[in-house]
Amino acid sequence: MSQGIVTVAYIGAMVLFILALGGLSQPETSRRGNFYGIIGMLMALMATIIGIVYDNYFVLFFGVIIGGGIGLMLAKKVEMTQMPELVAILHSLVGLAAVLVGFANFLGHDTGMVGVDKTIHDIETYLGILIGALTFSGSVVAFLKLSARIGGKPMLLPARHWLNLALLIGSILLGALFVNQSAAGGGTLALIAMTIIAMVFGVHMVMAIGGADMPVVISMLNSYSGWAAAATGFMLNNDLLIVVGALVGSSGAILSYIMCRAMNRKFFSVIAGGFGTSGGEASSGPAGDAGDIIAVEAAEAAEILLDAKEVMIIPGYGMAVAQAQHTVHEITRKLRDKKINVRFGIHPVAGRMPGHMNVLLAEAKVPYDIVFELDEVNDDFPKVDVSLVIGANDIVNPAAQEVPDSPIAGMPVLECWKGKTTIVLKRSMATGYAGVENPLFYKDNTRMLFGDARDSLDAVLKSLD
Ligand code: TAP
Repeated sequence: MSQGIVTVAYIGAMVLFILALGGLSQPETSRRGNFYGIIGMLMALMATIIGIVYDNYFVLFFGVIIGGGIGLMLAKKVEMTQMPELVAILHSLVGLAAVLVGFANFLGHDTGMVGVDKTIHDIETYLGILIGALTFSGSVVAFLKLSARIGGKPMLLPARHWLNLALLIGSILLGALFVNQSAAGGGTLALIAMTIIAMVFGVHMVMAIGGADMPVVISMLNSYSGWAAAATGFMLNNDLLIVVGALVGSSGAILSYIMCRAMNRKFFSVIAGGFGTSGGEASSGPAGDAGDIIAVEAAEAAEILLDAKEVMIIPGYGMAVAQAQHTVHEITRKLRDKKINVRFGIHPVAGRMPGHMNVLLAEAKVPYDIVFELDEVNDDFPKVDVSLVIGANDIVNPAAQEVPDSPIAGMPVLECWKGKTTIVLKRSMATGYAGVENPLFYKDNTRMLFGDARDSLDAVLKSLD
C-alpha cells in the first residue's frame, strides 16, 4: 500500500473518530457514534497493518488474536456495574503500552538522529514513558478501589504535598540527566529511575483521593492515557496516534472539568489529593441520635405514588446493581397513564461512571424528554409530591450541605427532602460509596422501603394495579 493511501485512510479514520466523539455526547446518537468509532478503528488498523508494518507479522497476528480474544471475553462477561473498573484496567494497559513501546524504541532502535532532533526525540520518549507509567500505576489503584479490593478511604500522608513536589522535581532532574546521557549513548538508568518515580506518583495520587472524588480521577486517568498515546505517536512519528491521543486526552480533560464543576471541586485540589481540604473522616457507624426511621411496605408506597401529581424518580448505583431499570420504566408508564407527571432527576456522578444512569434508562427505553440533569430540576423539589429514590445514597445526602467537614461537603446533591414525601428504596441502612451517614433517611417526610430495588419495585408495580 502506498504512503498516499495510508495517509488518506488515516485522515478518514481521524474524521470518523471525531464524529464518534460527537455522537457519544448524546444518548440518542450514541449508537451511531459507537459505530463510527468501530469503522474508524478498523480502517486505522488495516492501514497500519498493510501499509506500515513490514516485518514481524507472526508476532502481530498472535498479539491481535490473544489481545482481541481477551477483550472479547471480558466485554461479554462484564456486568454493567463492573464497567468502571474495566475502564480503569483498560486505561492501565494504555499506560503500560506507552511505557513498553517507549523502552523498546529507546533500547532497540538507533534512530540515527543527532543534535536537536535527537534531543526532541529523547524528550518525547521520556514524556511518553513518564505519563504512561503514572497512568499505569494510578489506573491499577483506581481499579482496586472501584472493585472494592482495597478501601475507598483517602490515604492522606502528613507531608503528601511535599512528597508530590519531590517526585516532580526528581522527574525533571532525571529528565535532564537522561537527555544528556542519551546524547552520549547512555541514559537507561535515568529512564528506569524516572519510571519508578512516576509509578510511585501514580499510586500516591490515586490513593490520596476520597471515594466521592473518584469520578474525577477516572476521567483524569482517561485523559492521561490519551496524552501518553499522543507522546508515543510523536516518538513513533505516527500522525494518527498523535491525533487520536490528543482527542482522548482533551476530551478526558474536558470531562474532568465537567466532573469537577458537577462536584463543586477544584481540579488541582482533586489531583493533589485533598489539597486545601480537611479530608474529613468518612463514618459508617450508626447515626446515633439522628432520629427514627419510618419503614413502609410496597403497597403503602404504591398508594403514596397514586396520590401524587408530581413524581421525581432519582436513580442511583443500587438501581444498576438490582437491574431495576425495566421495572422503573413499567412503573413510570403506569403512573403517566394515570395522568401523574413523572420526571427523572439525574445526578452527574450517580452510579459508578459518567452517564451510567442515562445508559440504563435508555436501555429500558425510558423517553429522553422526561430525563433531566440535576441543575434542571433541583429548584423544583418544593413542588414535588413524591421523590422515589432508587438505590441512591450519596447523591441525595443533605450532609453535603449541612455538615461542613463531611467528605462530601460542597458537592451538589438532589434536594429531594424539600419535597412532600421521599421514598427511599435500599436493602439496609448501609452508607453509600463515600461511606457517609445519610440524615435523609431520618427525616419526618422520608419513608424507607427496604429490600432489593427490583423486588421492591416489582411489588410496587403489582400494587399499582
Ligand atoms: P451510592 O452512594 O454508592 O449508594 C448506592 C446505594 O444503593 C447504597 O447505599 C446501597 O444501599 C444501595 N443498593 C445497592 N444495591 C442495591 C440493590 N440491589 N437494591 C437496592 N439498593 C441497593 O450511589 P449513588 O447515590 O449513585 O452515588 C454515587 C457514588 O459513587 C458517589 O459517591 C460518586 O462520587 C461515586 N462514584 C461515582 C462515579 C461516577 S463517574 N458516576 C465513579 C466512581 C465513584 P444498601 O446496601 O443498603 O442496599
